[in-house]
Amino acid sequence: MGEQIVVGSINLDMVVTSPKIPGPGENICGHGFRMVPGGKGANQAVASTRLGKKTRFLGCVGNDFFGDYLLENLSKAEVDSSLMRRAEGFSSGVALIVVEENTGVNTIVVDNGANEALTIKDLEGLEVFYDSSDCILFQLESPLDVVAEGSRRAKERGLITVLDAGPPRQVELSVLANFDVVSPNRNELEVLSGVRVDSIAHVVQAAKRLLEFSAGSIVVKLGEEGSLLLTGEGAWLFPPYEVKPVDSTAAGDAFTAALSVALGEGTNLHDAVWFANAAGALAVTVFGAQPSMPKRNDVIALMTKRQRQWGHL
Ligand code: RIB
Repeated sequence: MGEQIVVGSINLDMVVTSPKIPGPGENICGHGFRMVPGGKGANQAVASTRLGKKTRFLGCVGNDFFGDYLLENLSKAEVDSSLMRRAEGFSSGVALIVVEENTGVNTIVVDNGANEALTIKDLEGLEVFYDSSDCILFQLESPLDVVAEGSRRAKERGLITVLDAGPPRQVELSVLANFDVVSPNRNELEVLSGVRVDSIAHVVQAAKRLLEFSAGSIVVKLGEEGSLLLTGEGAWLFPPYEVKPVDSTAAGDAFTAALSVALGEGTNLHDAVWFANAAGALAVTVFGAQPSMPKRNDVIALMTKRQRQWGHL
């Protein structure tokens, strides 16, 4: 089995739990403030490591106290962070997160900070690792030129290329051109495709738009509705695992990381989505981004509780 590369964002999450998500101008009392390591890229790197894959992470932190903490945390999580760079003049990325009690629903505002300092030049560090790697994972929380050029180079070197299409961003769809798999959630799909998504039929329609521009398949994370796989051969709906929600933060990151780990291991797309579904579900049951990234044994234990099933649409 080869190694995994993750290129992307790393943030310190400032999280408050609240009786409800505040509306505009609303001032309410929350509780349980915590600082938790996060950032879509770093979450996915930690998830991939916990799922048993040697993982290398490329990203930028600021030259500040948060950066020290985030790097220390990556090494505790046994992610290879030797390619990480300290960006002078930038603060480390931060995310302000409110998690709603009882439902685990969240809102997130990110200041990308040093994540914006990642450049195409940073990709040069990856050259020596392509031969030992089988899969590379990007997100849209990074500069788009890095995402486009990074996927182009990795695909040319024979890696499976996966894009977690979060956060929601309106971008030129040409950025998808070198991705074997593109995985948005419902909001991200709507913003990216420009198609309003309020039914499964609309999900398929929007995913078809992305499929036209990508190099492979689309896997949509639908939360409580499970997930949807669209390839040139058809569309399939995967039912969700029922779990008690605590915090939905980074559930999508666990999902996409698991998907890419399984694909890198040579698993077929349907079984890889099934595995990813279980990983995403487990992440919802634990508070915080990186603390909630599941271990491989736990994912397999959840999978054995039900029969493999998905429906052709
Ligand atoms: O996907 C969840 C992540 O989004 C959080 O950890 C936050 O840092 C933002 O990047």
